[in-house]
Amino acid sequence: MSETNFKDIVRRVKEETDLVELIGQSVSLKRVGNSFTACCPFHKEKTPSFKVHPDKGFFFCFGCGAKGSAIDYVMRTENLEFIEATEKLATALGLALPKSSPEDRARRDEVEEKRHAILSANEAATKWFRAVLKKKLNPIANAYLPERGLGEELVEQFQIGATPDSWDGLKQHLINLGFSEGLLVESGLCRQSESGRVYDAFRNRLMFPIHDVNGRPIAFGGRQLVKDENSGKYINSQETELYKKGHHLYALDIARDAIMKAGYAILCEGYMDVIMAHAHGFNQAVASLGTALTPMQARLLKRFASKTFFLYDGDLAGRDNMLKGGIPLLAAGFDTRVVILPEGDDPDTFLRRDGHDALKERLNTAPEFFDWAMDVHDGKVDLATLAGQAEFTELMAPIINALKNDVMREGALKRLLERLGGLPREAVTRILKKHRQDQERREERSDYPQSPASRTTSGEQDEEAPTARRLPHQMVDPLERSLLKLMIESNEALETARSNLRHEWITDRRLEGWIFYFRDSGGYAKTLIEEIEFLDEQPGDGTILFSVMAWELSASKDAAASMQEILLRLQERHQQAHTREILGMLDDPALTDQDRERILTVFHMEHRTRLKESSRHLRTRDAAARRHRLGGNLEKPGTPPINQQGNP
Ligand code: UTP
Ligand code: MN
Repeated sequence: MSETNFKDIVRRVKEETDLVELIGQSVSLKRVGNSFTACCPFHKEKTPSFKVHPDKGFFFCFGCGAKGSAIDYVMRTENLEFIEATEKLATALGLALPKSSPEDRARRDEVEEKRHAILSANEAATKWFRAVLKKKLNPIANAYLPERGLGEELVEQFQIGATPDSWDGLKQHLINLGFSEGLLVESGLCRQSESGRVYDAFRNRLMFPIHDVNGRPIAFGGRQLVKDENSGKYINSQETELYKKGHHLYALDIARDAIMKAGYAILCEGYMDVIMAHAHGFNQAVASLGTALTPMQARLLKRFASKTFFLYDGDLAGRDNMLKGGIPLLAAGFDTRVVILPEGDDPDTFLRRDGHDALKERLNTAPEFFDWAMDVHDGKVDLATLAGQAEFTELMAPIINALKNDVMREGALKRLLERLGGLPREAVTRILKKHRQDQERREERSDYPQSPASRTTSGEQDEEAPTARRLPHQMVDPLERSLLKLMIESNEALETARSNLRHEWITDRRLEGWIFYFRDSGGYAKTLIEEIEFLDEQPGDGTILFSVMAWELSASKDAAASMQEILLRLQERHQQAHTREILGMLDDPALTDQDRERILTVFHMEHRTRLKESSRHLRTRDAAARRHRLGGNLEKPGTPPINQQGNP
């Protein structure tokens, strides 16, 4: 196996390094259940509060908070940089390291330097914009503030500034401070004309700095002070090494504590809406800034809350942006609500006219996004007609498919079926499946991974390296193959899978279509197989299905119990992957220690819930095993794939 990607190496180092062996070299570990304890090597203590979880690949000290993966351990104990520690562990595992690492390192350093320089320029620019306002160098700006209800406190809190009506005021100032023209252009603070002249990008505007989650100014938005049809009412900084469109949320640095305390965020569209929300005591407000909310922004927010309120403009554009942005929110697992504003209002105008209590009331009565979206789409079609019902289902399909939680998904499906006047479930589930497959095909084509593991805050590496699992050509996942085989083989096993299998447990794209064809269409497996050739669209590759059908399970005693076993293993495997994802997040260099602390707190909470869940699951399984004396028809993990096994 050739390894070329550094990220792959990091992943494999974390997965494959034996933490107990590694840490056991320097401290003496004692086993307690599935984990190990010791006196912490990172602080002085007499009673052990240092824990190693080899199955989950991390260590944690309850005393001093030291924590992380094998890589972190080596970094700390041997005082190495991240890359050096990774290289060391990779070498120990005999993993081939990607070549040309000195060049890579030079490139990384260069990017790091660039980011640093842009940040310094942005900091200097923020100061200058604020000085323009304080020294009243643009009187229009000073007159505009009270018109918009922007008092001194808000100006200070949001670091609002202004630019004069000049082509090079900022440029001259920053050049005097020693910044190069080239950097000013790269930072987006200046632009370069075709003739090569460098000039200020923001002129005669009210300036809103955009901060990252840690409060560093990464970009700016500027609002026109004098109407000019030749340019946008608002303009934002272009993308830079620091700032990527759709990766950040305006005011998240200011709102994050309030969001965590309340457990919810309020999502607005614009700068002024956010600022006015804060001014009226809604300190959980952030904005997605001129784009519909992106999956990246949804995941960023998920670090701080599990519930969101859309507070968008009460017009058609606002409505459409919510319809779009709701999907990544549902996909990220948010309880998503929609605050409905009167037509023609935005949060700014609404709050300034009707005040805090009126908005509070609308938050309290905000419908769920799903119900709201059903109403919106219902209004577009005639549900009394067959064509209207079909169109309605098509419109709702991506929304239901975004729901990853089984209970939420089933509940949504039920509401949809009720709205359709009690159609049979199969009519809708087929459309849902088709949408899901279309979506996946699109994702595969664009090679755009929707993995929740993508980095969130500074986003420097986001769109590279698809993380979707791709197996080599003839290989299928053995566990998922057993699952499908049993679903086809035994109706009892099929029923067990139907009531317990979760979509997110399945990783093999070549089997997935078939697995969900059998799970989601009602009826016996035999009938379903006969029906396949009459389907409009094949759920998957026929050769794969046949090879699975032809492949033989070893002597099968009890299919239902075997199915339970497989489901449990799939679930465990999924949870381990999830754990690794969370631990991977901790490596994000843009995180503060406080961020990491929070991620870990959530992680521990999730872990506890999962333990409860799986002990419940285990009890059911054990009962089944006692009844059936658990048949041995399962292949062991790691059985070679079909083509190497001698089965046709
Ligand atoms: P709106 O047009 O609703 O503006 O755009 P607003 O927030 O109500 O602004 P005010 O009240 O007139 O000052 C909402 C958001 O869309 C982005 C900005 O982020 C804005 O806050 N936008 C809008 C742009 O990026 N460019 C534009 O030309 C307009
Ligand atoms: Mn407005």
